[in-house]
Amino acid sequence: MNILDIIAKKRDKRELTKEEINFFINEYISGSVTDYQAAALIMAIYINGMNERETTDLTLAMAYSGDILDLSDLGDVIDKHSTGGVGDKITLILMPIIASLGIPVAKMSGRGLGFTGGTIDKLESIPGYNTNISVEQFKENVKKIGISLIGQTLNLAPADKKIYSLRDTISCTESIPLIASSIMSKKIASGANKIVIDVTCGSGAFMKNINDARKLADIMTKIGELSNRKVKCVITGMDEPVGYAVGNILEVKEAIDVLKNKYIPQDVEKIITLLGSNMLILANKAKNAKEGEDMILENLHNGKAYQKFIELVQNQGGDISYIEDTDKFEKAKFIIPIKANKQGKIMRLDALTIGKLAGFLGAGRIRKEDNIDKKVGFVFEKKVNDIVKQDEIIGYIHSDDEEKANYVLNRTKDFLEIV
Ligand code: URA
Repeated sequence: MNILDIIAKKRDKRELTKEEINFFINEYISGSVTDYQAAALIMAIYINGMNERETTDLTLAMAYSGDILDLSDLGDVIDKHSTGGVGDKITLILMPIIASLGIPVAKMSGRGLGFTGGTIDKLESIPGYNTNISVEQFKENVKKIGISLIGQTLNLAPADKKIYSLRDTISCTESIPLIASSIMSKKIASGANKIVIDVTCGSGAFMKNINDARKLADIMTKIGELSNRKVKCVITGMDEPVGYAVGNILEVKEAIDVLKNKYIPQDVEKIITLLGSNMLILANKAKNAKEGEDMILENLHNGKAYQKFIELVQNQGGDISYIEDTDKFEKAKFIIPIKANKQGKIMRLDALTIGKLAGFLGAGRIRKEDNIDKKVGFVFEKKVNDIVKQDEIIGYIHSDDEEKANYVLNRTKDFLEIV
């Protein structure tokens, strides 16, 4: 077997065998297959696709390319994953709710890349919060307080790490078999047997239309079945940012406000009840969606989820005075209002453009090693379908650089449409 024949086969639209897929992954990890050969094969997969069997074989080969975490001693761990988006702070809100209902939460999250944000960058906005702890400590935390949220510190699915970085540099991110295998390989390696996946759909997501989102959901559910994991996919909209805030500290503050019941954006409530009720059904804690939704909202409203979040932050070394008083978080130097240029109804607050502009302000990375500015981003006051008066404030740009803030302000028409 050799890599040139494998590349040629996929280039010519033929199906790869399990042995050929395993060969590619093993030889790429060992360094015998070069980055340019892997790039050629990945591009051929991007263009010509993979069937379900090939995608499952690719997923398993990537999952078993490193360590497989055993969480069986923690009980019935239910994981949650999102395919990515703009303003997506759902993990920070939902996981403390789930833990407060007595379901162990042992979750590893990623960093943001491109226009999408990452939970780990958000958690690290809390001074002292340590996302980089050993597996033993991770499990200890879950046993002690029922929740731990950390980064991907272990040697989990290293083939995905290599392929994910490569895809990013050769414009091959938006591919259903590549996304499905990337997500599912990490989920299989991180030890969860039951997983709820939020397949985001819209301008600020990898899947831009509902047909592609359904295809991605179907293939991930199928991979779950074939690998003995229970996977439930739900599809949620990502045409406008989730909630009102976009940017690391700004999103953490919004998540804390929600946990404190200061306000709960309608879309946030919809997503946490949808994902949460499915998690409770998978955990055999709720009999149906209605019962699950009620349980989620009860522990959000009665403050138990907020208390669990405080415990989580304290247990991982974070300074809880920032949670108690979110005014303590660092602020950007310039906070500039975005005003409505006319009276009417907001028809568009485009998530993709807002995500890219937040990245331009410093909230995101172009390359994995880039530093980010945790303070910057947007805080909106309005959502799509809201009625506004001329000159009413739509939201604020948070920036440390006045020139950048003005550039973003001048691009308002690219993300905001009032009719
Ligand atoms: N999230 C992942 O982990 N991988 C992808 O390819 C896309 C989103």
